[in-house]
Amino acid sequence: MTTETQQQDLQMEHQQYIEALESFTRTHSCGELTAANLGQEVRLAGWVQFRRDHGGLIFVDLRDRAGLTQVVFIPEVAPKAHEAARILRSEYVMALDGYVRARPEGMANPGMRTGEIEVVVRSWKLLNTSKTPPFIIEDRVDPGENLRLEYRYLDLRRPRMTANIVLRHKIGKAVRGYLDELGFIEVETPFLTRSTPEGARDFLVPSRVNQGDFYALPQSPQIFKQMLMVSGIDRYFQIARCFRDEDLRADRQPEFTQIDIEMSFVDEEAVMRMAEGLIARVLKEALGKDIPLPFARLTYAEAMADYGVDKPDTRFDLRLKDVTSIVKQSEFRLFASASLVKAMRVPGGEAFSRKEIDDFTDFVKIYGAQGLAWIKLRAPEDAPGATEWQSPIAKFLSMKEREALTATLGLERGDIVFFQAGDPAMVNAALGNLRVKLAGHLGLIDEAAHNFLWVTDFPLFEYDEEEKRLVACHHPFTSPGGGEALGEKPENAVARAYDMVLNGTELGGGSIRNHTAKAQKAMFKALGFTDDEAGEQFGFLTQALEMGAPPHGGIAFGLDRLVMLLAGADSIRDVIAFPKTQKATCLLTGAPAGVSGKQLRELGLRLREKEKE
Ligand code: AMO
Repeated sequence: MTTETQQQDLQMEHQQYIEALESFTRTHSCGELTAANLGQEVRLAGWVQFRRDHGGLIFVDLRDRAGLTQVVFIPEVAPKAHEAARILRSEYVMALDGYVRARPEGMANPGMRTGEIEVVVRSWKLLNTSKTPPFIIEDRVDPGENLRLEYRYLDLRRPRMTANIVLRHKIGKAVRGYLDELGFIEVETPFLTRSTPEGARDFLVPSRVNQGDFYALPQSPQIFKQMLMVSGIDRYFQIARCFRDEDLRADRQPEFTQIDIEMSFVDEEAVMRMAEGLIARVLKEALGKDIPLPFARLTYAEAMADYGVDKPDTRFDLRLKDVTSIVKQSEFRLFASASLVKAMRVPGGEAFSRKEIDDFTDFVKIYGAQGLAWIKLRAPEDAPGATEWQSPIAKFLSMKEREALTATLGLERGDIVFFQAGDPAMVNAALGNLRVKLAGHLGLIDEAAHNFLWVTDFPLFEYDEEEKRLVACHHPFTSPGGGEALGEKPENAVARAYDMVLNGTELGGGSIRNHTAKAQKAMFKALGFTDDEAGEQFGFLTQALEMGAPPHGGIAFGLDRLVMLLAGADSIRDVIAFPKTQKATCLLTGAPAGVSGKQLRELGLRLREKEKE
């Protein structure tokens, strides 16, 4: 055991070590010197942003993570240092000693924190040279994403990218602080595991020791966090990496990070309150922003009815209206025969050109629509007080139908109304996505707003056309509402699940789980598993549920999406240090890449392409 004196000695030694380290390194970062430091001797280190030779003086903007400082080489102050500075090029790495002085009259830059001062160099040292970088390290320059990803280390030197990485760190810190205060414990769970049915394809890892067998990388820690509840951990969290082999989009990556949470002895309300508090804390700590609690709530049915999607963007007020019953008898056959007809009134849309409407029509075709019906309400030239219905379909609509549409949609002169008729999933997807596109087009979106809301009462199942069976909407561990029993018609069951939505993006989702083996088995049965199949794949889970599993539930947030939205970035790739491309490749390292024949043999694998050769 160490005595108290030994402890003190150790501490002193450590202190001396820290001081020695500090005397060797910088006194300040490149982002902090102001008029308050005038006259001070300083040591800075960083990268040369830019060198200017000007009237016998040499100026360098020196950059590090914290910002830029102007340094000046003056022949009268340090002739050798000045002479040598001619070799400096962009991205060279240097350290310097000098003193802080005010910039001359009229040369101050009020837009920069260090804009009042400059550092006069007494001596400096070249720490490294740099080849000419493939792009200038500046926010304004857009070298294209491929080049940025190939030279990601240079891309991350850009202030905006550095700021994103710092914001990500701050958010992680706020999350850990909040959850720790509430008694949550961070527990790591395995990467090499069994496949869990989270709805995407698994990434598989072949086993060398057990040839022919594979691990799956976790799509989420779902089953492990439920096991931890059975263990009595009670409140678990993890900032956890998840892996899903799915088609990539701006808000999806093959490996991404979740803020994963699970709690025992809770209902939906408790999880949702905890989650709102977490997000409020994150916004406060990371952006200094207060957000009102509690968040608004919509049921899944309400969201689909009014917005056509289950993650509505409520920063603007365009809404869909079901007009099926109004146009049921219409002479317009497409409307009369459709199972669902929905309309969206867009104030001011009467001014849309033919070209704009054609673009919107092409857009809805992405969602399976054949076309896009529209009506403009305009003032005729010869009768400015009147309202004319201008549309290729106007002639099919009776007076009565027009009146009913006007009343239901609140139509006014200057509007355009878009219609979609047909299969409900297509109608909702087409108009729901058009809604967002139009809001952008018309500038209706307040980019500074953070509109949070909950969507609740999801269906427990959806019908999978390809597999011809029910699949879980959320995942198979979610408990049905109204007790354990799934009843006669499982397809009508409501899930005890909730999604948190921010500005039209699904930020997180969770549910109350089946905590009895009986309920979980009923779920597997409804999903079409035989007892043997369920036992083979999930026997360990049902067994654990039989050993005193407490009622439990949780949620997981997409950390990358959260950072993206708070950073105002367009893609999650901009808030991940080393992301993959849309084709799931890493342009920096060249992954995925081939492996040697020896590696394959060790794993007991042979490539089929190679076989043919
Ligand atoms: P879910 O599958 O809804 O739930 O995922 C939770 C959140 O993770 C984010 N997310 C993604 N982010 C980036 N790239 C992806 N490919 C990706 N996929 C999902 C989303 C999403 O809301 N185990 C459950 C949670 C629970 O029930 O507690 C789960 O993983 O923001």
